[in-house]
Amino acid sequence: MEILNIALPKGRLGEKVYKVFERAGYGAEDVLDEKTRKLVFENPAVGVRYFWVKPSDVAIYVERGAADIGVAGKDILLEYKPEIYELLDLKLGVCRLAVAAKKDFSDTLDFTLRVATKFPNVAMDYYAGKGRDIDVIKLNGSIELAPILGLSDVILDIVETGATLRENNLEPIETVAPVSARLVANTSSFQFKNTEINGLLEKLKGAL
Ligand code: PRP
Repeated sequence: MEILNIALPKGRLGEKVYKVFERAGYGAEDVLDEKTRKLVFENPAVGVRYFWVKPSDVAIYVERGAADIGVAGKDILLEYKPEIYELLDLKLGVCRLAVAAKKDFSDTLDFTLRVATKFPNVAMDYYAGKGRDIDVIKLNGSIELAPILGLSDVILDIVETGATLRENNLEPIETVAPVSARLVANTSSFQFKNTEINGLLEKLKGAL
């Protein structure tokens, strides 16, 4: 049996995801132990090796084959367009990518729209599809500040409960894409470790 290398996204979503793997019979010791600083955990008996990576890096590990499979948000997949297979929607971390603005904002379409976002490629694709000229302002967090301070006209960001927008007097104006966690696979691992990956896939479906 070949060992499957699995990239998990660090953080709350990753913990939920790991619990599904555990329920499916693929647990490994200490994965959720907060006291350890270890990043790699394995259970050779069931053929898995997990590692925690930054959520936005999962696609890179999987695309380059450092991980055979991994779990990444659809937002990351839309942004980086890695050449990997998307195998399963885990229906966890459900949210959406949306455009939001200050309540009094209205787009007159006669100027270059300034869009602040962590997702520059998603923003360019989305507005190219509408034929709207934009100026992308790439930020790394606290995106909601940009329209408040006049840095941008709108933001394109993740909206989950909508609380962050509300508390900053912003409102969603368009949905760009639904988002949830996806199980993804490296394309050659999917061939060479097909039995192992399909076995895991079936058990995960049962555990969801
Ligand atoms: C995400 C996102 C929003 C917020 C949305 O931020 O960028 O700010 O969550 O959630 P809500 O609709 O439930 O309020 P995150 O916590 O990842 O922080 P950051 O973007 O500032 O890094």
